[in-house]
Amino acid sequence: MDVVVTHPLPLSEGLLKKARLSILPTAGRKPLSRRELLRRVRGTRAILSLLFDRIDCGVMDAAGSSLKIISNFAVGYDNVDVAGAQRRGITVTNTPCQEVSDAVAEHTVALMLSLLRHIPEANAYVRSGKFKGWNPDLLIGSHPAGKTLGLIGLGRIGKRVAQYAARSFGMKTLYSDVVRDRSFEKEYGAIFLPLEKVLTTSDIVSLHVPLLPSTRHLISSRTVKLMKRGALLINTARGPVVDQKAVLSALISKKLGGFALDVFECEPRLMCSNADARAFKKLSNVIMTPHIASATQEARNAMMRIAAENIIAALSGKKPLASVVPHS
Ligand code: DGY
Repeated sequence: MDVVVTHPLPLSEGLLKKARLSILPTAGRKPLSRRELLRRVRGTRAILSLLFDRIDCGVMDAAGSSLKIISNFAVGYDNVDVAGAQRRGITVTNTPCQEVSDAVAEHTVALMLSLLRHIPEANAYVRSGKFKGWNPDLLIGSHPAGKTLGLIGLGRIGKRVAQYAARSFGMKTLYSDVVRDRSFEKEYGAIFLPLEKVLTTSDIVSLHVPLLPSTRHLISSRTVKLMKRGALLINTARGPVVDQKAVLSALISKKLGGFALDVFECEPRLMCSNADARAFKKLSNVIMTPHIASATQEARNAMMRIAAENIIAALSGKKPLASVVPHS
């Protein structure tokens, strides 16, 4: 078998077949059990994985020495042991592209506006029959214009959010990152600052870092204290970047004014403990979406194409479009 595909991805499968590669598709849409995954990968040359498949050394060893590439169908690849793959000479690839950056950035902006203008609360208000006519005091929000947006991470997605914020809303944009991009700063008026400074001076903080040992609980009980009273927090990156229990306490004490998240620390659970999840769900200034920030048809098609092309290139000895290396 050339390629094990862990979830139905029609466009990828079509391209792989067209390249005359044999594939072992998966019909069901639920994640494969560990046992099933280990059974399926035996002797394969490529694995086309999703972010819920844990591709560790056990999976690589089960595949054996035939395994050349792990093509992860996502921009994030914290589900893959990249260092383990590198030690075995296995290439790991992901699916970064303009379509995904646009989709995630648009979703981030949608969450920001939803927090600022109470859109989910307003929707629930009308649906529950409470709307009895115009009321000038009802659900008063505020403008993004003039507010300071703090971006933690200025990669492709963070940059796109910065562009929307500066161009569409005239927001002041601060950012922190491990690398500084002076030409981007010049073009969009973004200001580079250390993380602590971004947290203390932003009205809205949006996270755009990968999940790494160094970014796990980047927002913690310590760092949340640095944020402005009433600040808003948005997470469309990876759940464990935020210590959600710390954020829950900050929301209850009104230190934070709102939290919008598309990714969850103990995904797919809302919080790591059920009691905390109940408290979290009661807060009207928490907006949750089910890890759909990149869910546009355009992004999914581009991801399916890139995931397949990465495999086709690697199996024919060429350089894949998007190889990743272990993060330090
Ligand atoms: C990604 O690409 O990493 C998203 O989280 C899933 O599309």
